[in-house]
Amino acid sequence: MLREGLIYLSQSSTAKKIVTQAPFARSMSQRFVPGETVEALIEAAQKANAAGLKVTANYLGESVHSEEAAHTAASVYQRILDMIAARGLDGNVSLKFTQLGQDIGEEFLLDNLLPILETAKKKDLFIRFDMESSEHTQSTLDDFEKLWTEGWRNIGVVLQSYLFRTAADAERMIELGTRVRLCKGAYVEPPEVAYQKAEEVDENFLRVMRALLSRGNYPAIATHDERMIRATLEHAKTDGVGAERFEFQMLHGVRRDVQQELVDQGYNVRVYIPFGEYWYPYLMRRLAERPANVLFMAGSIVKESPLGFLWPNRKKNVQ
Ligand code: FDA
Repeated sequence: MLREGLIYLSQSSTAKKIVTQAPFARSMSQRFVPGETVEALIEAAQKANAAGLKVTANYLGESVHSEEAAHTAASVYQRILDMIAARGLDGNVSLKFTQLGQDIGEEFLLDNLLPILETAKKKDLFIRFDMESSEHTQSTLDDFEKLWTEGWRNIGVVLQSYLFRTAADAERMIELGTRVRLCKGAYVEPPEVAYQKAEEVDENFLRVMRALLSRGNYPAIATHDERMIRATLEHAKTDGVGAERFEFQMLHGVRRDVQQELVDQGYNVRVYIPFGEYWYPYLMRRLAERPANVLFMAGSIVKESPLGFLWPNRKKNVQ
């Protein structure tokens, strides 16, 4: 219920107006979003690299319907790629098709993507296409395959284990030799297309993880769930999949302890670092993933309110 409510609020413009004007929300978002500028992103990326973490950079934004805004997003991605290359960072980028104009039209999207792909290719950098809600799944995979068929190889997709279709999509990506990021999925999806029970989502995650690990091309296992992580390590061991053949991915600000532990054990770990002024829906999705984050935010509201003195020494959620 709470998860559905928060995801609903992530799409509400009224809630957005209220939340983004509240100082507590901005400070809460800093846990997940290091800042609004490319410079803040680069600083966070340098720190992550110094800790042995690879990065993937995301300029926050989605559901863009104006051509101007979609072009602006494309030019920000060009700038990120330039800076990653210029600073010699161990990083790549993750972008959303609806931010670059998918809802305006397929031709517009592909035209807008082209300079990004060319820059990335020139600089030998990789571009990940994030996966959005299920109404975009088919068109995202179609556009991806179109680009793949044209010969682009520095690109990869995301598959979500809550969708029924994902096992079949994973087989297709294995056949193509494409790099896949596997995650559970962050949107509210109807029972017609998606598993509704957490155990079923997890079971499918494990099934697809095993297929990708054994037969896929450098899959990214994107989860903070220690059971999924342990199962991945066990499968890699049983099937003789070396640590260099896959990576773990986690979000900036989430389970830093687990990120570091895996790095220390010699595994590849990449952190997803989002930045930019459009942090509201991203923050709401992160809150939806973990009720404790809502309590943390509620604590911040109390502390900032005139009654804050009632709760001055509350232990911070340090995860
Ligand atoms: P789950 O939600 O079951 O959480 C397991 C444990 O992880 C929790 O008990 C808690 O300890 C910790 N945890 C998880 N989320 C947390 C949070 N926000 N704050 C604090 N602790 C938290 N989704 C999508 O639909 N399309 C996409 O393209 C992507 N891309 C993507 C990239 C990367 C690198 C990651 C890590 C995730 C995504 N996701 C995504 C999001 C993904 O689908 C999912 O919503 C979250 O990763 C949460 O799922 P977990 O697998 O972590 O497990």
